[in-house]
Amino acid sequence: PRPILLTRHGESLDNVRARIGGDSSLSETGLLYSRKLASFIEKRLASERTASIWTSTLQRSILTAHPIIGFPKIQWRALDEINAGICDGMTYEEIKKIKPEEYESRSKDKLRYRYPRGESYLDVIQRLEPVIIELERQRAPVVVISHQAVLRALYAYFADRPLEELPNIEIPLHTIIEIQMGVAGVQEKRYKLMD
Ligand code: G3H
Repeated sequence: PRPILLTRHGESLDNVRARIGGDSSLSETGLLYSRKLASFIEKRLASERTASIWTSTLQRSILTAHPIIGFPKIQWRALDEINAGICDGMTYEEIKKIKPEEYESRSKDKLRYRYPRGESYLDVIQRLEPVIIELERQRAPVVVISHQAVLRALYAYFADRPLEELPNIEIPLHTIIEIQMGVAGVQEKRYKLMD
């Protein structure tokens, strides 16, 4: 059965500064991950005749895919990180201080809370529908290089996790989550390439 490999982008400069959103490039550590990921993919997919690499349209995702050669790459806007609207570019500390009402309502209902001029997790789940349909249609392996909130939604779908749990699922950096869909159901493996 064909695997789906899910990974976040390598550590970005905004990850280092603890800022959410934005479109920053990778840190040195993130660049190192992009190279490790490429050699992992090369080995893991060595016996496959075809496969494709799906990224978002954001720099950190595209740059993480950059060292991977030999497979077609497709950019999906639907794989972009949750839009934090007026909070884009802020740290959680800043949101707490400058927009305490927003911070408060989000912590009360993270699934349904929509950032002003941005998105909620429910919005992200909805925009991922065409991606999921296309993923299920694929016969060859797909490597999805995306972002934390988006991968929570994809993972919850494939691993059949409850909606209410979805916004808090841990999707660590520098780790590949491999999902295999077979007759016996869904199997999962994790490969941690770096700390
Ligand atoms: O930038 C956004 C984060 O990846 C999503 O994290 O939904 O836990 O705040 P959060």
